[in-house]
Amino acid sequence: MTLKTCIFDAYGTLFDVTAAARQAAADPAFPQLADSWATLAQDWRLKQLQYTWLRAVVGAHADFWQVTQDGLDWALEAAGLADQPALRQRLLDLYWQLAAYPEVPAMLQALKAAGYNTGILSNGSPDMLAGAVDSAGISECLDAVLSVESVGVFKPAAAVYDLVGAHFGDAPSDVLFVSSNGWDAGCATGYGFTTVWVNRGNEPVDRLPWRPTHILTDLSTVPDIAASC
Ligand code: LAC
Repeated sequence: MTLKTCIFDAYGTLFDVTAAARQAAADPAFPQLADSWATLAQDWRLKQLQYTWLRAVVGAHADFWQVTQDGLDWALEAAGLADQPALRQRLLDLYWQLAAYPEVPAMLQALKAAGYNTGILSNGSPDMLAGAVDSAGISECLDAVLSVESVGVFKPAAAVYDLVGAHFGDAPSDVLFVSSNGWDAGCATGYGFTTVWVNRGNEPVDRLPWRPTHILTDLSTVPDIAASC
């Protein structure tokens, strides 16, 4: 097989979704986060994802910004931090400028230098993704930023993975799909992509009918994986 295209999930894969709560906790204006930021970040992410899956199953799509706010509201209430509008706003503002993981720019540049198409395929709405890509300074290393908003359903619906072939004209076997979400990597394997699961937290493999093709602990060796495909 000759690989043509490397596609990345965005949130949690290229961009560190825990950064918003961690940065807010470092702000002296929000001492209430000092002990609770990690749990808040975890709950926020889990609820955000659960709401995407539930909305996809029942056909009640709302964009990722709505789902991100709904997840945060659940997490703030669980932490006893509801009704704190300044904190809520700060966390939401930070979500638009999440830090990219440090190895991201060099890894994308290496893929481009080797001649691959590169892109993002994300639940994120186009404006959220544009904000994150700009703040990370990686727009020049990406050929496409594909959002589920063009099909109105969240991952792992096949209609979302279809966006890659529709954009690049690739067969699934031409594509390496990289995600830090084990369920996303597993389902993308089921779709027909070769996949990488970036398992930074040493988590167990999701019990799904499909397994990620490759498992890495960060993104730095994705160009090597691509070259070996
Ligand atoms: C995304 C979520 C799943 O970017 O992380 O699609």
